[in-house]
Amino acid sequence: MRETEILHVDKVSKYFGGLAAVNKCSLKIKKGSITGIIGPNGSGKTTLFNLIAGNLKSSNGSVIFNNENITNLPSYQLFSKGLLRTFQIAHEFSNLTVLENLMMVPNDQSGENLITALIKPKLVEREEEELKKKALEVIDFLNLKHLSNELAGNLSGGQKKLLELGRTMMVDAKLVLLDEVGAGVNRTLLKDLGTAILRLNKEKGYTFCMIEHDIDFISRMCDPVIVMSEGSVLFEGTSDEVKKNERVIDSYLGRGNKRIKDNQ
Ligand SMILES: Nc1ncnc2c1ncn2[C@@H]1O[C@H](COP(=O)(O)OP(=O)(O)OP(=O)(O)O)[C@@H](O)[C@H]1O
Ligand SMILES: [Mg+2]
Repeated sequence: MRETEILHVDKVSKYFGGLAAVNKCSLKIKKGSITGIIGPNGSGKTTLFNLIAGNLKSSNGSVIFNNENITNLPSYQLFSKGLLRTFQIAHEFSNLTVLENLMMVPNDQSGENLITALIKPKLVEREEEELKKKALEVIDFLNLKHLSNELAGNLSGGQKKLLELGRTMMVDAKLVLLDEVGAGVNRTLLKDLGTAILRLNKEKGYTFCMIEHDIDFISRMCDPVIVMSEGSVLFEGTSDEVKKNERVIDSYLGRGNKRIKDNQ
């Protein structure tokens, strides 16, 4: 693995019955990059994220993260190594507030251990305070102050996506996989989301890999852009190269999906 790479996916496959949803897929993500992943519906993008982030076990192939073989490690172990993902459909605790949702992100709190909570109540209290402080910083960073005590279930689709991004900020993330973070998000909020991602990348050194259908958003945010088709990588290049590439255009048109052309 080269110094500049944070992730190396090598010939990873996932079969569902007879269907190869991901098919000998290989790709590399550069440390510090915001890499885009696009591809027609059903081309295996989410399944690939599930394989990398430990939400599914691969049929074969390997995944190396920061020089460590993490193939098929469960997501909670990857989480503590700094490999995080968000979901295509936001996963929030709808009966908890925004602040409480952020405070729920696992981070080895002593309070979770009943014995420690009983014998060292002060330690637990201090950790709670620190956690709250961190959550409030995240809320501030994402411009969600006015919603901090709102139940997460009452947030709009876009605000839920911001909260998902916020959850990745409660730990020391190194690589964050974003699955359609912009889907269902209005233009103004999409701008906020984009700004938050760019700031996290520049100021906190996060590497991002984002699946997105909105080619304008991808063009603004990502370099390089990886195009998936039928479970593997069809093309990689800058967003301009992607838009012009005949094989890419064919792969979208071939499935009656004209979105990439329409957005040019
Ligand atoms: N749990 C599953 N069981 C069976 N088939 C699945 C499962 N998950 C995904 N698939 C199939 O695998 C293929 C790839 O799906 P995937 O969700 O990875 O595509 P995608 O590129 O993320 O699509 P979209 O852009 O619509 O989100 C599809 O044919 C899908 O129906
Ligand atoms: Mg998907």
